[in-house]
Amino acid sequence: METADKKCRIAILASGEGSNAEALVAHFLNHPTIEVALMVCNKEKAGVYARMAKYGVPCHTIGKAEWQPGSTGEQVLDLMHREGIGLIVLAGFLAYIPEAIVKTYEGRIVNIHPSLLPNYGGKGMWGHHVHEAVIAAHETVSGITIHHVTEKLDAGSIIFQAQCKVLPDDTPDSLAARIHQLEHEHYPCVVEQMAMTFA
Ligand code: GAR
Repeated sequence: METADKKCRIAILASGEGSNAEALVAHFLNHPTIEVALMVCNKEKAGVYARMAKYGVPCHTIGKAEWQPGSTGEQVLDLMHREGIGLIVLAGFLAYIPEAIVKTYEGRIVNIHPSLLPNYGGKGMWGHHVHEAVIAAHETVSGITIHHVTEKLDAGSIIFQAQCKVLPDDTPDSLAARIHQLEHEHYPCVVEQMAMTFA
């Protein structure tokens, strides 16, 4: 069918609870030119599976051997090619993306990070570790960064940022909740704008 051929097919990569993955899937339900085709998780058990099941999104588990420096990324790339994936969207994906995948999908692989990069990014800075560090440094502002994925962790060009307050009585959990809200509000829209250019 002509319309189906024109759709930009998205693959989500996730490792954890999957609230961003769910926000993306919900946003693209019945979208005329963009669809979430599948989700890949690097763990056998994660909250994201149940969230995807609610929408009937096909899930794939690809274990840690694939996500190592020097890996050919063959299993992932085969899957992406077979499924006609035009855009890879990381949503709380915590494993290393091999160079072969980054190169093949250059400009078409995007990540969300729960801080205002370049602050609080890089090795060890993920999820609650970010919020703990932000609070420990007495920051009054934090936020989210959506950026292209390159070989260097959290260092690809920035596509979008949004800020929120850090309140004096914030805990890592309360800050994480505010950040998640910001992520769910903006990530699907930013991904949609990107995907429109590939549809
Ligand atoms: C999100 O806050 C995302 O920004 C962060 O993990 C959380 C996943 O939540 N990602 C990173 O820290 C990547 N360095 P979710 O599983 O509910 O979407």
